Amino acid sequence: RTVYLNGEYLPETEAKVSIFDRGFLMADGVYEVTSVLGGKLIDFEGHAKRLERSLNELDMKKPAAFDDLLEIHRELVRVNEIEDGLIYLQITRGSPGDRDFVFPDPETTEPTLVLFTQNKPGLADNPAAKKGMKIISIEDVRWGRRDIKTVQLLYPSMGKMMAKKAGADDAWLVEDGHVTEGTSNNAYIVKNGKIITRALSNDILHGITRAAVLRCAKEAQMEVEERNFTIAEAQEADEAFVTSASAFVMPVVEIDGAQLGDGVPGPVANRLREIYLEESL
Ligand code: PDD
Repeated sequence: RTVYLNGEYLPETEAKVSIFDRGFLMADGVYEVTSVLGGKLIDFEGHAKRLERSLNELDMKKPAAFDDLLEIHRELVRVNEIEDGLIYLQITRGSPGDRDFVFPDPETTEPTLVLFTQNKPGLADNPAAKKGMKIISIEDVRWGRRDIKTVQLLYPSMGKMMAKKAGADDAWLVEDGHVTEGTSNNAYIVKNGKIITRALSNDILHGITRAAVLRCAKEAQMEVEERNFTIAEAQEADEAFVTSASAFVMPVVEIDGAQLGDGVPGPVANRLREIYLEESL
């Protein structure tokens, strides 16, 4: 596969980054994942805007090629012949040539810009969407700026491992008794036809798919309430689901061993998935 590194398109085996890169040593970097369906980028502008915000919040310099990001995405889709898949983009604060907690001078240290594709044929026909996911809940012990999409993904990875060990598919994170979000997605419940999801704040990532799906829901005259909810309330809900750029709308059928409704994906989640994919294609 061809990847992009700091202005160059290279075979993946030839793309090399310094061992002093702050992304490697300190998780000092931000990222985005954009999906590709039928060769088309989904919600590119939303991802680009959030990326810019993440950089600003961390006082990180934009890489020289920032204005060319759309073109780079398109070129990678083209050369790697991606019909359905994902594009991963990462910007780190670069390599000052030694380890130091203090940020390097942005005049002398260039950020590192990396993009690569992941080919996922049939991404929109994921059989998991027909079955629904089993979720466990775990304590949310991440840092307090989850609105910034940093590459600090150790705890989300641990959460997915805890879910796997428990025979589940993913984990929802709980802070002060309320669900924040999933390990790599935003979380929703549905009660009496109303869609309930946590309001935006520094506590969760402002999902690009979340924004699009809530817009779809409102356009379809579905009721949406942005507020906190507990695991107990979720277990009593009619339905639940998650959203992300890689999963779109993914139904949830079990939470901490409690089956939701009939234990199959619910009508609201199914309909939103359909509307969202239709609008995206
Ligand atoms: N994850 N919350 C968290 C913690 C996430 O990591 C993600 C995305 C989301 C959903 O955001 P969006 O709809 O913009 O993808 C919410 C990506 C897909 C990942 O890490 O692979």
